[in-house]
Order: sequence, then structure tokens, then C-alpha cells
Amino acid sequence: MTIDEFLGALDALDASALALIASASTPAELELARNRVIGRKSGELGAIMKALPSLAPEERRGAGAAVNRVKSVIEAALALRASAVAAGGVIDSARDLTMPARRQWKGGRHPVTVVIEEVEEIFRELGFTTALGPEAETEWYNFSALNFPSDHPAMEMHDTLYLGDDTLLRTHTSPVQIRTMQRYPPPIRILAPGNVYRRDFFDASHAPMFAQIEGLAVDEGIGFVDLKATLTHFANRFFGATKTRFRPSYFPFTEPSAEMDVECRICHGSGCSSCKNTGWMEIFGSGMVHPRVLEAVGVDAERYTGWAFGMGPARAAMLRYGLPDIRLLYDSDMRFLEQIAG
Ligand code: DAH
Repeated sequence: MTIDEFLGALDALDASALALIASASTPAELELARNRVIGRKSGELGAIMKALPSLAPEERRGAGAAVNRVKSVIEAALALRASAVAAGGVIDSARDLTMPARRQWKGGRHPVTVVIEEVEEIFRELGFTTALGPEAETEWYNFSALNFPSDHPAMEMHDTLYLGDDTLLRTHTSPVQIRTMQRYPPPIRILAPGNVYRRDFFDASHAPMFAQIEGLAVDEGIGFVDLKATLTHFANRFFGATKTRFRPSYFPFTEPSAEMDVECRICHGSGCSSCKNTGWMEIFGSGMVHPRVLEAVGVDAERYTGWAFGMGPARAAMLRYGLPDIRLLYDSDMRFLEQIAG
């Protein structure tokens, strides 16, 4: 046999085998087709292969490769037809394959979790690690060490839920600043996400429990410019290039204190109901750590300075997803969560 005759026979087998396989409509017919084409004893492919030794030695390698190619095409056609035949068999007995498939449920992360993880990632790139603290705190950690005088009106900013005389549910994540500085010497760069509690009414913009993210940097020679540059970098990463502004503010544990706004995500600065017509949305409370806070934990305030910030990831999620009501994020309504789960 010449090589041309050999390849011609293979081609013919390829075509006739595929037609035969396609015409099989039961498992038994398919088995017959398999035997006839590639069966060990009397298969047509085997018959063609018997001619291999009669080819010129230098042609055998190419001829063998052609055999393998045809064989794998035939095997793939057999497998495909086998599943079609099997499915056809099922139609006959019981099921309607034209019915829509059952819906797949896909789990997702909660939007507040998505925001926390993104914030952590952006700050991790800047050298911040994550620190955690307890939700049940003492007055000293939640207030006194943070420079709240016991009769100071700033205390009224926090509607505290008390667990006992001296224990309370933390009203902010700032006590994690204190716990971190007690445990680790500077330089410190931490991010502390967690839940906080306030005796607020549950309305469109308040919840009795909500998430906060605290940030703290303590080092030699760091100043307000580091705070401003870092928070501005964050806003540009998190929201995409955006305008920001800093406004003077007051917190007992920082001096000076500032709030950072980003341009309203909804109206882009022209003023709308979401930004109460200011064109800006508040994102961070921040400031230089008050020397008295450093002193309360034994950090040398002559040598070290620090800056800190606090943000509400639920608020950031509202801005990000354009949500009108914070309760959407805390009601666990699957119809809502499914739409924005990440
Ligand atoms: N603890 C403040 C609050 O709950 C938020 C905050 C403001 C944290 C300024 C800070 C900061 O670390 O520097 O409202």
C-alpha cells in the first residue's frame, strides 16, 4: 500500500464512522458502531493499521500520527453521542429536558464586608496592619484614656449602652488605639475595623450597631501633612480620582482635628438631597493624636507624634452603591443583598 492509499482509507473511515455514530440512537446501536469502527478484533481502523508495516519506513511515523488523530476524533464523537443517547433515553422514561434548569444560588460577601476588605487592602499597601479589640470595654479605654473629661459635653456625642457600672459596649473603635499603643512600641501603623454600639434610634441614617474603621499611625517626625496625604490617597483609590477637602473639627482625642469630605458621588458637587445640597460628603473624622492620649499609654509625646482617623464603612457603602437608607445594610433582606453582593 502506498502512503496516499493509506491516508485515503483513513479519511474514508473517518467520514463513514462519524456518520455511523451520528445515526446510532440507542446505547446498543452505539456499541455496535464502536465495535465496527474501533473494536479490538474486527474493527475497521484495526484493518487499516495492518497495512502500516507495508509502508516505507520513513512514512510510518506520519501514518501512525494520522491514525491516532482519526482515532481520537472517533472516540470523542462516541463519547458525545453516548451522552446524547443517554439523555434521549431519559426523555423517553420520565423527564422533560426542555424545562428551565434549577436556579443556582451564589453566596456573596456583604457590601459592608466588601468595603472593609477594600479599605484594609489600600492601607495594607501603605504598611498598615489590622488590629482588633473587644466590643465590651471599660470607661477608661472608651473615654478617659482618649481624653474625654468625665463632665465634658463631648460625652454627649455618644449615647452609650452600659453593661455594668464600669463596662459598656464600645461607642467607637478608638479604644483599639489605646490597646495597641499599650502593647506595641512605635512605630505603629494599624487599621482597626469592628462593630460599635450607640443608643441611637434605628432610622434611615442611624443604627444601634454599626461598623467603624479606625486608623492610627505613631512615629517620629510625622505630621498633619502625612495624615492629609494618606487620606487623600485613600479617597482617590477608593472612589476613583475625586476632589477632597478638609474642614476643622473637634474630637477630644485629637488636636488639631479635621473632617475630610469627598465630592458628592451622586451630584458631583452641584448639590442634591443626598449631600444636603452641599456638594460634599463626609468620609473621615481625623486629627493629630492629642499628646495627653500618648501620655495616658506611656508614649513619649516629646519624641513621637501620631495621627488617627475613623470612618464608617456602611456610609462608604451607601455612597458607593447609592443607597438611600442605612437599614438596607443591616436588615439582611436577601432580595436587596442579592442585588449588590460582591
Ligand atoms: N471615634 C470617632 C467617632 O466615633 C471617629 C474618629 C474621629 C476617630 C477622629 C479618630 C479620629 O481616630 O481621629 O465618631
